[in-house]
Amino acid sequence: MNAQALQTRPDARLFPMQPEDLDAVLAIEQTAFSHPWTRGNFADALANGYWAQCLRHQDELLGYGVAMSGVQETHLLNITVAPARQGQGWALMLLDALCEWSRHQQAQWLWLEVRQSNQRAMQVYARYGFERVSLRKDYYPADRHLREHAVVMSLCLKQPA
Ligand SMILES: CC(C)(COP(=O)(O)OP(=O)(O)OC[C@H]1O[C@@H](n2cnc3c(N)ncnc32)[C@H](O)[C@@H]1OP(=O)(O)O)[C@@H](O)C(=O)NCCC(=O)NCCS
Repeated sequence: MNAQALQTRPDARLFPMQPEDLDAVLAIEQTAFSHPWTRGNFADALANGYWAQCLRHQDELLGYGVAMSGVQETHLLNITVAPARQGQGWALMLLDALCEWSRHQQAQWLWLEVRQSNQRAMQVYARYGFERVSLRKDYYPADRHLREHAVVMSLCLKQPA
């Protein structure tokens, strides 16, 4: 399933993430994740020219995404929707925008890692068309100095012949 039509939703728009967005981005990041990215992680992504987009409705930041371009592939590094706005289709809109950008970069695959415990995110990705391809053992830090496995998922971006 690919939700291309969602990009036409008139009530929200995507904007390139700017350094001045980072206070609002971090406010969401810190409520959405047990192990959030730091300001430095976002600043590095901006400095490196990664795909980094904020999704806004008027003045409200709904969510954001960060991705890195590779050789014929894109790696999704962060996708987050504000907790109060989850379940309304906004992640699908971010994924649609990322797929469109990736195809412009000639990417053929979109890759991501997700915590094995993050069933909600995996469900969203699977419904979007991502397939589970492997497991990276002990990839993420977890509580009490433990580690958590990452599920690696990929989406084929090649247009059907
Ligand atoms: C994972 C995460 C990004 C998903 O974001 P989300 O905005 O809640 O996801 P969406 O709403 O786009 O997911 C689609 C769901 O919205 C529903 N939906 C609601 N309104 C919709 C609309 N107008 N159009 C399309 N779908 C809509 C869909 O039916 C679907 O529900 P279902 O999967 O239960 O059937 C979000 O939960 C999050 O930020 N989590 C914390 C951070 C995180 O874990 N990030 C991922 C790390 S790998």
